Parts: sequence; structure tokens; C-alpha cells
Amino acid sequence: MSAPDLILRSLRVRRGEHTVIDIEKACFEGGNISVIVGDNGAGKTTLLLACAGLLDLAAGEVLLGGEVFHRGRAPAPRILRRRTASAFQEPFLFAGSVRENLEFGLRCRGVARRLCAERAERAADLLDLGRLLSRSSRELSGGERKRVDLARALAVEPEVLFLDEPTLALDLDSQKRALDALTTLAEKKSTTVLLATHDAAWLGGIRHHLYKLEKGFLVKGS
Ligand SMILES: Nc1ncnc2c1ncn2[C@@H]1O[C@H](COP(=O)(O)OP(=O)(O)OP(=O)(O)O)[C@@H](O)[C@H]1O
Ligand SMILES: [Mg+2]
Repeated sequence: MSAPDLILRSLRVRRGEHTVIDIEKACFEGGNISVIVGDNGAGKTTLLLACAGLLDLAAGEVLLGGEVFHRGRAPAPRILRRRTASAFQEPFLFAGSVRENLEFGLRCRGVARRLCAERAERAADLLDLGRLLSRSSRELSGGERKRVDLARALAVEPEVLFLDEPTLALDLDSQKRALDALTTLAEKKSTTVLLATHDAAWLGGIRHHLYKLEKGFLVKGS
């Protein structure tokens, strides 16, 4: 099955008293990496949270492969949500080991126990987390937490991946690993990636569509 388009229609999202996102129409094409850049406070995290169905919409809707994924306060149906995975700016890890965190999303999706272990270990290898698999999630550095969160999202091999500042707090070697993982996704073209970053330079030569978020509006770049 080909990766679904992610479409925004008349999308407005408020934060407190302010409308932070106001996008009439946007289509993030299936199987491509779409990158949102913007200054601090531009609304990148807000847009990703709204697209992922984790923040109420003041108006409009988000469509995934032609189906309504998020509208108003209606949370996306679980069956649709399971087609997506997210790694946010502030990583949230569950209590338990790194391995348990990596396996969590797979278990939720009904993946068999042995396959869960294999896929969690594969994702751990991608971000050099092998030696931390049995470590408690409470005993990790900031960059390690970020890498676990990223690996957890990659482990489920979702159709749609939301990545918010994925290289924040990562050292150069880990940035390179994240870049390699994205390059693989770009080559396979089986995942729709929406990625927010305040600086897209680290993406180097990876093929992507660039958008700039300015005062809530989305402007297509190169
Ligand atoms: N919980 C909140 N309540 C009220 N306003 C908020 C809240 N969270 C964010 N904002 C405001 O919404 C706007 C967009 O914030 P957002 O976090 O989406 O920006 P960003 O582009 O991700 O910034 P950064 O580059 O710092 O991560 C900012 O003006 C911010 O102050
Ligand atoms: Mg942000």
C-alpha cells in the first residue's frame, strides 16, 4: 500500500488567546519528507501536535489518505492513529526499561512478542541504543531520551511519521544516525514524514519538500 497524503483544509489552531496556525490548504505528499522550518514560537510544534491529533482544532480538518483523521475536538479514531507515530520536541518516555519503551508501540499494534523484540532491537541499533536496552528510562541523559523517543517512533514503521526537532540535543554521531534513518525512509518512499526543525541545514542532501511557517501561515519553499 502506498503511503497516504496528509492534507490540511482550512486549519486553524489556537494556543491560549491566540490563533497560532491558519492554513487554508496544504498537501504533504505520501511517501515524501515534508520539512517545516520557522523561528522559535512560529508554531511548528503546534502544527505537528494538531496534525497528529493531539491538540484540538479551532476549525478545519486533517485528512489522512482521504479519510478524516482529525476535526475539531474529535480525537482521531484509534485505527487511524495507529497508522501514525510521533516523536515530539519534549520526549515522553514511560516508566520501565528502554526496551519496554521501544516495544510499547509494537505491542499496542498487536505485533507478536518475538517480532516486537526483533524490531525494537533493530530500531535501537539505528540510534546506537543497544547497550542501553535494559537501562531504566528514568536513568537516561537528555540526548539518550531523545534517541529512545525517535527509535520508538521508527520501530513501528508507521505510514505517517511526525518528527518535531528530531536532532535537538543529539551529538554529531547521533545526528548522522538520525540522518541515515531518514535517508532510508526517503529511499523506500513508504512513509509520509512531516518534520519540524528550526534549522534544516542538517538534512543535507536528503530529498525533501520545504515549507516555512510564518505568523501561522505556511509558505512553500524549494
Ligand atoms: N500551552 C500553551 N499555551 C499558550 N500558548 C502557547 C502554548 N504553547 C505554545 N504557545 C505559544 O504558541 C506559539 C507557537 O508555539 P510552538 O511551540 O508551536 O512554536 P515552535 O515553532 O515549535 O517553537 P520552537 O522553535 O521554540 O520549538 C508561541 O507563541 C508560544 O508561545
Ligand atoms: Mg517547537
